[in-house]
Amino acid sequence: MSDPAPGTVPRHVAIIMDGNGRWAAKRHLPRVAGHRQGVETVRVIVRAAGELGIEYLTLYGFSSENWKRPPEEVSDLMGLLRLFIRRDLAELHQNGVQVRVIGERDHLDADIVAMIGEAETLTRDNNRLKLIIAFNYGGQTEITSAVRRIARKVQAGSLDPEAITPETVSDHLDTAGVPDPDLIIRTSGEMRLSNFLLWQSAYSELVFADDLWPDFTPDGLRAAVDEFRRRSRRYGGSGSDAPTLGEG
Ligand code: IPE
Ligand code: IPE
Ligand code: MG
Repeated sequence: MSDPAPGTVPRHVAIIMDGNGRWAAKRHLPRVAGHRQGVETVRVIVRAAGELGIEYLTLYGFSSENWKRPPEEVSDLMGLLRLFIRRDLAELHQNGVQVRVIGERDHLDADIVAMIGEAETLTRDNNRLKLIIAFNYGGQTEITSAVRRIARKVQAGSLDPEAITPETVSDHLDTAGVPDPDLIIRTSGEMRLSNFLLWQSAYSELVFADDLWPDFTPDGLRAAVDEFRRRSRRYGGSGSDAPTLGEG
């Protein structure tokens, strides 16, 4: 498969990494084995995204609803974030990757919060690939927190309610300063957003891949990017290539 021509690569790709549990179940392995293999896929896909010239890559690693899982699985997932940062941070930094984590930090263990802070500080000035990890992230909570912060400014008299625009909301989200995702990929055949980037996905192109996340490959990423390049983005306009009457 050939690489896409420069200039047509989506600037921001976001991935809902789904299917680890089913990957493990198919092999009669415990779910954690699927999550472990999923981390290997993260490594491969981060590298491939950089090679494709993608500027921003957001990975959904743990949703605010994933706390509903059995405590052992939650603790395995926390452990894997620790392992990923411990094992991969130096190499990511060497490769010029900037790491940013979005989501609530309140209920995360103190050592994880510290590790996240360390990763963000170390890589702050890197500008090759911007890797955003959504961890303990939920779009509704993110929007609610933004609304709360905006309300406080209004209450304090520093913001006029009439001056609130969609940009005001964007600027108060965890993703402030990050362009909205051009392409959102979900693996494992599920077709829903599961509370991912609800505000930011307004005009994202969605591509659903059948591969379970541990089976997802750079070719799968390239195929999704190719699919994205075939789409016509109209943002509500009529678009030059929109079908007109008589052309079907
Ligand atoms: C994605 O895989 C990883 C997380 C949600 C943390 P799942 O664990 O959801 O795998 P399935 O959907 O049960 O196969
Ligand atoms: C979404 O996957 C969350 C992550 C990939 C981190 P889930 O597996 O939790 O989503 P649902 O429950 O199938 O909607
Ligand atoms: Mg799932």
